[in-house]
Amino acid sequence: MLREAKDLKVISRRKPNDPERRVDQYRIVFERYPHPAWVLDRATLRFLAVNDAAVSKYLYSRDEFLRMSYLDIHLPEDASTVQRSLINGQPNSPGIGLWRHKKKSGDLFDVEAAWIPVPFDRVPAILLTADSTHRSLRRLLQETESGRERLEALSRRLVDIQETERSEIARELHDEVGQLLTGLKLMLSADEREPQPGLAGSRREQMLQIVNELMDRTRNISMDLRPPMLDQLGLLSALVWHFERFTEQTRIRVSFSHVGADSRFPRPVETAAFRLIQEALTNAARYAGAEVVEVEVQADSKFLKLRVEDRGSGFDQEAARAGRSAGLTGMEERAHLLGGHLTIESSPALGTRLLAELPLRSTAPGVIP
Ligand SMILES: Nc1ncnc2c1ncn2[C@@H]1O[C@H](COP(=O)(O)OP(=O)(O)OP(=O)(O)O)[C@@H](O)[C@H]1O
Ligand SMILES: [Mg+2]
Repeated sequence: MLREAKDLKVISRRKPNDPERRVDQYRIVFERYPHPAWVLDRATLRFLAVNDAAVSKYLYSRDEFLRMSYLDIHLPEDASTVQRSLINGQPNSPGIGLWRHKKKSGDLFDVEAAWIPVPFDRVPAILLTADSTHRSLRRLLQETESGRERLEALSRRLVDIQETERSEIARELHDEVGQLLTGLKLMLSADEREPQPGLAGSRREQMLQIVNELMDRTRNISMDLRPPMLDQLGLLSALVWHFERFTEQTRIRVSFSHVGADSRFPRPVETAAFRLIQEALTNAARYAGAEVVEVEVQADSKFLKLRVEDRGSGFDQEAARAGRSAGLTGMEERAHLLGGHLTIESSPALGTRLLAELPLRSTAPGVIP
C-alpha cells in the first residue's frame, strides 16, 4: 500500500505528456492486474518482471522469480512443449496454451496461459498471463486435438488405400489384360500379312481361347472392385459367392452360419460387413495357417453382428498395430464410422476371434466406400 501511494505521488508530479509518466502508469496496471502476469525474455524464457498476483499465487518472492525461468514453474515432461510454443511459435503472434503450473509448494494446477510479444528494455520479450482453468476445458481441448489427429490419420490412410488399389488395377490391366490383347493383335495382323488357310481352324481356336480368358480376367477385376451381387442381391448372396471363391483360391474351408441375415440392410452396413469379413478372411489365409475359418452373421432389429474366428497361430496385437499395415485399423474405422465397434481377441492358444457390432439405425458420421 505504502509503495503504491509513493508511486502515485511520483507520477502525479510528472507532466501529463511525459513519456516516463506513461511507462509508470503501465507498470502500475501490470502490477495490479488481478491475475498472475510476467514478462519473459523471449530467447531464454527467464522472468524479467513479475506482478503481485503471481507472487501471492505461486509463493515465490519477486527476487526468486527473477532468478528463475518460466520453465521452472512447469513439470519437466511439459517443458519441451512449452518451450516450442513460446520460442518456436509465430514470433510476432499472440498465443494460448493450456498447461499445468507448479507453485513453490509443489502443488500443480491447470492454467490457460495467454501471451503476446512485447519489447521490454529493448529486449525481445513476451508478456504472459495465466488464468486457472477447469480440468474439463483442458480435457475437451485434448479430445478435440486427438479427434483431429485421428481424422488426419484416417484421411492419409484413405489416400494410401486409394493409391494402392489404383496401382493394383493398373498392374492387372497392364500385365494381364494388356498382354492378352497384344497376343490377340499379333495373331490377327500375322493372319492379315500372310493368310494361312490351312491353319485357320486352330488359330481361330487359339484366338477364341484368348478372348475367353480376357473376359474372365475383366470379370475378376470388376468383381474385386465391388461384387455386383452386393448391390443387387444383398449381403448374404455376396458372402456366399465370396466364400466359394475364397475356398477355391486358398483351399481353406469357410464354416458359415447366419440368423436373420437374409434381408436387406442399409447400403453402408452391407458394404462395411462385406469388407470386414473379406479382410478378416484374407488375414486368416495369409497368417493363421488354419484349415477352417468360422463366419457367423446375426441380425436383429438393432444390430448386425459379425464373428470371424480361426483356430490358427494368433498374433500379438500391439506389435501388429505398430507396423504400417492398414487392415486391422481399417476394419476398426469402418465399424466406428457406422457408430459400431470391433473387438479382436487373439492368442497362440486360441487363434483369432474378431467380433463386430454394426448398428442398423445409423447415427454415423460417414462411411468408407
Ligand atoms: N487371423 C490372423 N492370424 C494371425 N495373424 C494375424 C491375423 N490377422 C492379422 N494378423 C497379424 O496382424 C498383422 C496386421 O494385420 P493387418 O491386416 O492390419 O495388416 P496386413 O494384413 O499385414 O496388411 P494389409 O491388411 O494392410 O494388407 C499381420 O501382419 C499379421 O501379422
Ligand atoms: Mg490384412
